[in-house]
Amino acid sequence: MEGFNFVTGFPKNKRLFLSTILLLVSLICAAYFLANAFHYKQVRLARWGLIYSIPDTTTSNEKCKTQCHPSGTHPLPQGIVATTSNLETRPLWEDDHSPTNSNRPFNLLAIPVGVKQKQVVDKIVKKFPSSDFVVMLFHYDGFVDEWKNLAWSNRAIHVSAINQTKWWFAKRFLHPDIVADYNYIFLWDEDLLVDNFDPQRYLSIVKEEGLEISQPALDPGKSEIHHPLTVRIARSKVHRRYYKLKGSGRCDDNSTAPPCLGWVEMMAPVFSKKSWQCVWHMIQNDLIHAWGLDRQLGYCAQGDRMRNVGVVDSEYIVHLGLPTLGGSNDNETSSNSRRESDRPKVRMQSYIEMQVFGKRWKDAAEKDQCWIDPYEQHQNQTSH
Ligand SMILES: *[C@@H]1O[C@H](CO)[C@@H](O)[C@H](O)[C@H]1NC(C)=O
Ligand SMILES: *[C@@H]1O[C@H](CO)[C@@H](O)[C@H](O)[C@H]1NC(C)=O
Ligand SMILES: *[C@@H]1O[C@H](CO)[C@@H](O)[C@H](O)[C@H]1NC(C)=O
Ligand SMILES: *[C@@H]1O[C@H](CO)[C@@H](O)[C@H](O)[C@H]1NC(C)=O
Repeated sequence: MEGFNFVTGFPKNKRLFLSTILLLVSLICAAYFLANAFHYKQVRLARWGLIYSIPDTTTSNEKCKTQCHPSGTHPLPQGIVATTSNLETRPLWEDDHSPTNSNRPFNLLAIPVGVKQKQVVDKIVKKFPSSDFVVMLFHYDGFVDEWKNLAWSNRAIHVSAINQTKWWFAKRFLHPDIVADYNYIFLWDEDLLVDNFDPQRYLSIVKEEGLEISQPALDPGKSEIHHPLTVRIARSKVHRRYYKLKGSGRCDDNSTAPPCLGWVEMMAPVFSKKSWQCVWHMIQNDLIHAWGLDRQLGYCAQGDRMRNVGVVDSEYIVHLGLPTLGGSNDNETSSNSRRESDRPKVRMQSYIEMQVFGKRWKDAAEKDQCWIDPYEQHQNQTSH
């Protein structure tokens, strides 16, 4: 306002009036430009560590923008942000006799369960010592109370959602930030026999061999086998590839890609913490059967999938291959007809999901200019 009064009070000569305005405007512009340039220089110098205190608040805001806040936490001071959690239960109050946190379990066993497989699941869980394993049950049939009489039931985490699959549960309840404490995650089916399996021996082999993604081998005599890679080799400790030297789809010493090696099946995978951080992101929210995911696991192997993905032979399991979900609530001996009518639909859906996942992967790979496929060359060699 004052400036305006100053200008209007100037001599009535119109030309002089205009040129004064012009001069003022250009002065203001120049000042603005210089201020910006100086500001920019300060920021640059600050980045190089040449200026230690920057009084200008906008400048320090610039600096803070480079701090990495988890999304949504900007209103908080960084030190209060707790990015990870775990599945440990907590006492309502602390007393002197509370066990300390130092010896809490550092691995996780998660299993989707229906009450029909209670006996089998009981045997599995009993093999996993509570000192080393947190147990999480995903109840897909809603019968949570039926498990109460088992000795370990109270220390397990029970999650219930009707008719949901293992991958549906895993996507929702095993976010890497939630399971950040656990070194290994066993994401197992409920139809497995563990008579020849010891989880601690298994983990010591996995560590020794550097397997980031693994599974125990399947006892071929008693298991439902879907793929020869998973079959146990007697007197072997670990194998990473299988051989098929005749016919189509050969696998030999020159093979470098799935299905010959570099993946495991989805009934009993064991993930290292690092690999799970990757795999969780690869699980699609809507593709609940997760078909096709197994063949891509190698991308999460934290290095060469030929080395870091494998099958442990010396600790092995039996895969019963029961139609556990998508079945009816009737048991084996009673009506099979309803269960059998659901199976083809589940299979069809799984197959469709595999196509969708394949297409998503292909599109994503094409669109992402920054992504380089580490296995691209290998893929051509094995496609004979
Ligand atoms: C593997 O590749 C090498 C070189 O191409 C070839 O000489 C050899 O016969 C191949 N081995 C098998 C088992 O196919
Ligand atoms: C769960 O699936 C079965 C068929 O497998 C069906 O009969 C039942 O109604 C489903 N329950 C719910 C709550 O969707
Ligand atoms: C299965 O069904 C039979 C006959 O209906 C019954 O006797 C048996 O207890 C059932 N088993 C389970 C585990 O529900
Ligand atoms: C792999 O094969 C595809 C198509 O056959 C070809 O376009 C691509 O260049 C090949 N990649 C390498 C690394 O040889």
